[in-house]
Amino acid sequence: MDKIREWLLSEHAGTVCADRLHVVADELFRLRWRGQSGAIVELGCYRGAMALWMRHMLDALGEGEREIHVYDGFAGMPAPGRQDSDHLAEGELRSCPQDVLDTHARWDKKPPVIHPGWFDQTLADELPDTIAFGYLDGDFYASTLTGLRHTVPRLAPGAVLLIDDYADVAANPRAWNGLPGVKHASDAYFGHPSPVEALVGDDDLAVGRYTAPARQGGAST
Ligand SMILES: C[S@@+](CC[C@H](N)C(=O)[O-])C[C@H]1O[C@@H](n2cnc3c(N)ncnc32)[C@H](O)[C@@H]1O
Repeated sequence: MDKIREWLLSEHAGTVCADRLHVVADELFRLRWRGQSGAIVELGCYRGAMALWMRHMLDALGEGEREIHVYDGFAGMPAPGRQDSDHLAEGELRSCPQDVLDTHARWDKKPPVIHPGWFDQTLADELPDTIAFGYLDGDFYASTLTGLRHTVPRLAPGAVLLIDDYADVAANPRAWNGLPGVKHASDAYFGHPSPVEALVGDDDLAVGRYTAPARQGGAST
């Protein structure tokens, strides 16, 4: 039995679930298998639950030196916009960097590099140049769109970005659709047909996967 997994599922059930832990572990395993270089980033880390899981999985894969960078306003959610539901109100989900440190200290895990501040004030200057895997969990339309604009161009060829709360109910009718702004933002960014693939879990998982194109071939001769 994996004690960290059990602890996350009991203590952080509001933001992680078995399906999410499974799909993230799967992506990190594949990243290791491909030998994908670059940093790991999480946009919207809250109290550090998924960051701890990523650290735990990377350590298990012999990737203890791989850096994880996390970004959060630590001021609660911003105000929802026209494209968002009323599932979360302004100020909800307030946390602080010490929460993230405590989550990792609880399991004697190396903490991530923490970047406090609103996405539109931190990402442009503080995202690593090359991203091997990203987890975007901003919940609202504007937060998701800002995250995509800064993250996608930095993805290494073949790298994956998971978009939490991306509910494509046409592709996966069981997906939880409580934060519709996330898919609206993704559609606005990527256009149609969207390259984002809806993942399916055992339960009501709503996660989209974007895979950066493999490097284009060299110049033609
Ligand atoms: C659902 S929580 C993230 C949960 C986390 N991924 C986990 O697994 O535990 C969403 C987080 O996004 C952050 N957030 C949302 N919009 C943001 C923005 N525009 N800038 C910075 N942080 C933002 C909130 O502060 C909140 O902590």
